[in-house]
Amino acid sequence: MNDSKDNGSGLSRRDFLQGSSMAAAATALGTTPISGLAADEPRGNAPPAMGPAAVRINLNVNGRKMTTNVEPRVTLLDALRNYLDVTGCKRVCDRGTCGACTLLLDGKPVYSCSMLALEAQNKPIRTAESLVQGEKLDAVPAAFARHDAQQCGFCTPGFVVAMKAVFEQNPKATPAEVEKGLAGNICRCGTYEQMRDAIYALCNQRRS
Ligand code: FES
Ligand code: FES
Repeated sequence: MNDSKDNGSGLSRRDFLQGSSMAAAATALGTTPISGLAADEPRGNAPPAMGPAAVRINLNVNGRKMTTNVEPRVTLLDALRNYLDVTGCKRVCDRGTCGACTLLLDGKPVYSCSMLALEAQNKPIRTAESLVQGEKLDAVPAAFARHDAQQCGFCTPGFVVAMKAVFEQNPKATPAEVEKGLAGNICRCGTYEQMRDAIYALCNQRRS
């Protein structure tokens, strides 16, 4: 590949790409991109720029500490699936529109395809795997199974995790409130009526 400095700026294509990657990583970490700041100028309290090479990250996944090396651009979804073999979250749209990759980060449902693995450090992560303890299924996936609320099942991990979050925030949630909490998830198989049956059963259990 041609890496010559022939663009009049004195920067090679590789210099440019490396600079862009560091700025992107800094942005993802909530720091101000360092455009206009020379590399050796003081940067206040900003953390050091990371990447583009892989960096070590520690994640707390389903109560277990997990460590791996990922490039700063790697999403939480890809870090879990491709580096840590935690495959409950599914990769479907990979752009924050379907909810198949939903997990709980610090108790809140998030799309893991739409955040960086680096951003998820120091916060508890819970995936659909956390809803099974040995042979015992949590009440939410158990209701899905009982009411046949899945066909291909690809959307199911995201739905059960999002539904778990609703009940954790409000144990007495009504069916309408549960459905509202699932607004970010879609099922391409259209198994919504069976999901409604599962939701009604869970709400009734909790109110009785
Ligand atoms: S895969 Fe993340 S929202 Fe669709
Ligand atoms: S059961 Fe197939 S996408 Fe929902």
